[in-house]
Amino acid sequence: MKKHIVLLPGDGIGPEVTKAAKGVLEAVAERYQHTFSFENQDIGGAAIDQQGTPLPEDTVEACKKADAVFLGAVGGPKWDQLPGHMRPEKGLLGIRKQLGLFANLRPVKAFDQLLHASPLKHSVVADSDLLIVRELTGGLYFGEPRERRNNGQSVVDTLAYERFEIERIVDKAFQSARVRRKHLTSVDKANVLESSRMWREVVEEKKAEYPDVEVEHMLVDAAAMKLVTNPSYFDVIVTENMFGDILSDEASVLTGSLGMLPSASVREDGVGLFEPVHGSAPDIAGQDKANPLASILSVAMLLKHSFGMEEEAEQVEKAVQEVLESGYHTADIDLKGGQVVSGSVIAKKVIEQISTSDATENIMRCYV
Ligand code: IPM
Ligand code: MN
Repeated sequence: MKKHIVLLPGDGIGPEVTKAAKGVLEAVAERYQHTFSFENQDIGGAAIDQQGTPLPEDTVEACKKADAVFLGAVGGPKWDQLPGHMRPEKGLLGIRKQLGLFANLRPVKAFDQLLHASPLKHSVVADSDLLIVRELTGGLYFGEPRERRNNGQSVVDTLAYERFEIERIVDKAFQSARVRRKHLTSVDKANVLESSRMWREVVEEKKAEYPDVEVEHMLVDAAAMKLVTNPSYFDVIVTENMFGDILSDEASVLTGSLGMLPSASVREDGVGLFEPVHGSAPDIAGQDKANPLASILSVAMLLKHSFGMEEEAEQVEKAVQEVLESGYHTADIDLKGGQVVSGSVIAKKVIEQISTSDATENIMRCYV
């Protein structure tokens, strides 16, 4: 297959982990005889420095033509004092919105080798394997009006949804649950918010179309609590943009391996933007210390979701698993008895595995 991928390296460790992602894509292309072409574009702080805006028009145009987009990370102290519309994060929010990427998928799965680094007791976190499906282009993040009023004495943000926006994310979540353990938790604040009451209504309507999936409603405060008391209770969680932002950060630390977590932001046709969950880590940028595995696992999600390449995706996941088992790791994770190496060495080892290992057997299954 021929595919065109736009790379948005961004800021901090973004360029390093993007390089690792590109190397993995090239190894996959070589092994499976695909033709992948690449194009770099600016976003975030790098785009502010180069072009005076966090989301240049050229970047948006290139992404619109691409089959998939990979993003490293955006943000850093250098740009913290800029006004809101000029912040690096605006680039990320803008590209999600402009590409219509309404579904953010964040799988959190425990790697056995890393569980001792979890802040939770082993018995609590073992067997955790959940997927947060976060609505990404509506809700509190984008609702209008959002402004200061009354000489700065009042302020308003708006949580607004059209029914179709709730329907499509709920559909996506049911579909994800269907190919996992068939359990969906819809998270809201229906005891207080009108938007949540409509969200519940839509979930209730939709469930008839997915009789094989068991669905329940949970208030967001209770869900936050349950995520730390009984994370393995959850299979798929679906929720509003801001609730999903908060819960996905909470979930990301459960398994003791933030540096391992991938994410996908997709729309109905599969086109998507894939990025590691971790941030730009400016304190270690440029030192080849960053863990590339979250980016490499994001490449697995890209192969699967945007290109429909299931076997290739599994090969990448398997390679990551094998490198972890070999004991080599970057300094952010603690593999007992392992050896700390640089990010580029880890990427090289993953690439070697992809190029040489046998056909896949399904070792990890987390990316839906
Ligand atoms: C995330 C990030 C972004 C968000 C920020 C950087 C705007 O926290 O991807 O979760 O809030 O969506
Ligand atoms: Mn976030």
